[in-house]
Amino acid sequence: MLPTLVMNATYIFNKWKNVPAPDRGQLIKVFGDVLRERKEELSKAITKDMGKTIRESRGEVQEAIDMCDFAVGLSRQLYGLTMPSERPKHRLQETWLPLGVIGVISAFNFPVAVWAWNFCLAIICGNSVIWKPSLKGRQSALTVFDIWTMACDRAGKKEFVSLNQVLFGDKKEAVELAEHKGIALVSATGSVEMGKVIAPLVAQRLGKVLLELGGNNAAIISQHADLDLAIKGCVFAAVGTTGQRCTTLRRLFVHNSIYAKVLEKLTAAYSTIKMGDPHEEDVLLGPIISDTAYEYMMDAMQAAQDEGATLWHGGGCYNNIDGSIFGPYVYPAIITANGHLEIMKKETFAPILYMIPYTKLQDAIDMVNCVEQGLSNSIFTNDMNETEQFLEQAYSGIVNVNAGTSGAEIGGAFGGEKDTGGGRESGSDSWKNYMRRVTTTINYSGEMPLAQGIKFDNE
Ligand code: UN1
Repeated sequence: MLPTLVMNATYIFNKWKNVPAPDRGQLIKVFGDVLRERKEELSKAITKDMGKTIRESRGEVQEAIDMCDFAVGLSRQLYGLTMPSERPKHRLQETWLPLGVIGVISAFNFPVAVWAWNFCLAIICGNSVIWKPSLKGRQSALTVFDIWTMACDRAGKKEFVSLNQVLFGDKKEAVELAEHKGIALVSATGSVEMGKVIAPLVAQRLGKVLLELGGNNAAIISQHADLDLAIKGCVFAAVGTTGQRCTTLRRLFVHNSIYAKVLEKLTAAYSTIKMGDPHEEDVLLGPIISDTAYEYMMDAMQAAQDEGATLWHGGGCYNNIDGSIFGPYVYPAIITANGHLEIMKKETFAPILYMIPYTKLQDAIDMVNCVEQGLSNSIFTNDMNETEQFLEQAYSGIVNVNAGTSGAEIGGAFGGEKDTGGGRESGSDSWKNYMRRVTTTINYSGEMPLAQGIKFDNE
């Protein structure tokens, strides 16, 4: 299966790379138009696939649409630099050219948006894509494929349909993708464990990887924060998508002087969140992805309590809601402790929020940084010095002030440090990951002066 896909992808890449980039952008523009028209259908497919609430699914499709708009603009801005040469009448410049076939491995939690980050950029840069979606994203991938086919048709570019090929499968297929020499870049989103399997396989054949792996994100609420704003930001970040975003808030450090108040406000906010069938308009909390995920959540909660922590909210669960195709459902948990626990170093992909008091900001920042992952961290404060101290020290790819850890816009580069894998996707200059840089010296002097002043003759 994969060798045939790579063959097709290579064939179409060799045609596509010769289409001028602004023209490539026009196809993505039409793709964005069709996504807009079929937004509701695709949102429903996402909700049905993985249980995200319909409101959040719409947000996810919007993220893909935003990505199209961004990519269309970029298709006229794939700039290279020109540098002053040290030699007379020489020009030193760089040009960006497409890489080839890009493999995209996406996760269940963002079955469309994260693929779109990769796909839209890969395509305007002149590449072709082979996409391995999560097994839990099947209907979403099929709907996206249909939308893409319609866009190619409408744009009069039917011959380019195979720029987006889908490889359904699981670990075996992901490994095949990583090992295939014909794939220039493997962009993988998922757990740290997955990244540690995929990255060495790609490295062994000296291919390129782009990794967006786990986060274990934290927020600080200082005594100088606007509390209502902070609570709102933290509740969405901790509970949204049933705690299954890479950017989910998992650890919360709160200044001693406001700790009791924050705990009270948080538990009050948690108890108003409507849980239920994610297709229903007013439901804010859908199910968790699987029985295994449910067990991980229960195990983590137990481990925290074994370490002496206290469970304030959540913990129970019910396996199903009448008439719902989903399950299991979980009550989001708030767990308090006096210091950083061992279990908090692990990213449990579930809505558990650990809460710890601090006295000195530096201690809180040290706790933020004491885990292996480094995706997204936030501080809630109106104090400028605290803000700067945090911005300087929080060791992650995303560092927010008075905004939650999740819900990034596509315009910025998305990704993180340490075990998060170091990759940057979506906005800013992330497009460079999908291109190769060619450095060129053009000599129009009619002579052959050498760089560094070397003389290679005795005249
Ligand atoms: C992810 O969880 O892998 O910042 C991506 C956010 C979303 C993307 C999350 N825009 O929460």
